[in-house]
Amino acid sequence: MERQSYYITTPIYYVNDMPHIGHAYTSVACDAIARFKKMQKDKYGEVFFLTGTDEHGNKVDRSAQKKGVDTQSFVDNLVPHFKKLHSDLSCDYDYFIRTTDGAHKAYVQDIWRRLNDAGAIYLGKYEGWYSVRDECFYQEGELIDGLAPTGSAVEWVEEESYFFKLSKFQDKLLDFYNKNPDFIKPEGRRKEVLSFVKGGLLDLSISRTSFSWGIPVPIRSEGANDEHVIYVWLDALFNYMSALDAAQKSELWPADVHVVGKDILIFHAVYWPAFLMALDLPLPRCIFAHGWWTNDGQKISKSLGNVIDPIALSEKYGSEYLRYFMLREVPFGKDGNYSDAALMSRINGDLVNNIGNLLRRALVLIESKHDSRIPIIGTLEQNDEELLEDIILAKNNFVDRMSNFEIHLAIEEIIKLGAKANVYINHKAPWKDEDKSGTTLNILTYALKAIGIMLQPFVPISAGKILDAIGIEERGIVDIDERVIPGGKIYVPEIIFNRITE
Ligand code: MSP
Repeated sequence: MERQSYYITTPIYYVNDMPHIGHAYTSVACDAIARFKKMQKDKYGEVFFLTGTDEHGNKVDRSAQKKGVDTQSFVDNLVPHFKKLHSDLSCDYDYFIRTTDGAHKAYVQDIWRRLNDAGAIYLGKYEGWYSVRDECFYQEGELIDGLAPTGSAVEWVEEESYFFKLSKFQDKLLDFYNKNPDFIKPEGRRKEVLSFVKGGLLDLSISRTSFSWGIPVPIRSEGANDEHVIYVWLDALFNYMSALDAAQKSELWPADVHVVGKDILIFHAVYWPAFLMALDLPLPRCIFAHGWWTNDGQKISKSLGNVIDPIALSEKYGSEYLRYFMLREVPFGKDGNYSDAALMSRINGDLVNNIGNLLRRALVLIESKHDSRIPIIGTLEQNDEELLEDIILAKNNFVDRMSNFEIHLAIEEIIKLGAKANVYINHKAPWKDEDKSGTTLNILTYALKAIGIMLQPFVPISAGKILDAIGIEERGIVDIDERVIPGGKIYVPEIIFNRITE
């Protein structure tokens, strides 16, 4: 079978402030998915993981002004913090795009020309509400008590603007959603988008004249103001293609999945495909919308002063624990709540008590009773057979869950296997029964191999240590089918999962 490529993206992050937990979450989730795809080495040849920063627009510009800094220096100072977030959290992206990159600007200007040539753009005047925080236009009827549906403040805008003929794409979009039921995930979100589009689409304002921090509109219509800059969302969405161009990977388009937060689903599931349709370009295969984190039950916001700093959290607990907690605690797609207590109980329960204990118990016995070599397997009893079957079952379920973006359930498969292996070791008591201990410890090493391999997308460093300790070099999903080789050297590593106390 010919191997496919896989292209996954995070949204590009606004650099109006330091990174927060939402940025960490989207990037960690994408990193885990990308690592999983890389582990399916029989299926995927190239896996490409893109992230970056969204640097234009009113919001970023105003934040710079508030600090009294020129906007370019402002964004230049923030970008390293976003890169550090990724390296601190082991988010191993293949390319980092900045929308202030010269190549991106030229790309977007070219897109503008092509949209114009396709007859999709006209000059008009925008009169309506705009939220700078959301970088979004709202209709009067969408406002709730004078605020955007997101709770953000809106301001009245009247200015000359170019428009994209979004209204023309309503039927084409609905037809596309119907023919591609997997385009928007999870299912509940798909329904939201359908009802939004069925509600009617107005043409979209795609340029601004009241500020200049953006990519200049490259062509000028008769009688137009020449100060137009391109609407930040049109600029930002095309990062998914301009980045491939810059990385000389254009053949990877269309993207396999754009992972986004639920707040920016409409931009990705409505505007983005409409822009692409206008240009006759292939559409991404899937938009996956994840939920939002709250802090001890409260919405996270700067004004409430409860913003969660992921870099500080990762310094406190370690990046591996933060990654694990975010991915395991909340069903991917649903909202979740952050609390120190929840993180502590997850980590101590799953990683310390379950996996960490299992590893130590098995390896200490192999070290002391079998000269640190994986023993040979003898006659199998029923519970040996059962654990062997459980390993393969866990692997199959794990692959299904991950392929369906059910990250939390995929992790649960690993933890269930760990729990079964713990019951097995208690039952077999290999410290007592010298004769049978070889078989038991061989099978346990095999369970640890499977666990180590499957843990890689979530806790890549710790999983690597587990696999190093039991001498496993081939670390792909298919390698789980191979049992461990008797005689192989193991060692008892330093404690990999330290208990969180406090
Ligand atoms: N710049 C746009 C995206 C353009 S993509 C072409 C943007 N940036 S953002 O920095 O505001 O948000 C980036 C991501 O963080 C979004 O997916 C958003 O949903 C996510 N989160 C922001 N706050 C969040 C939480 N409290 N919880 C989880 N994710 C949240 O939007």
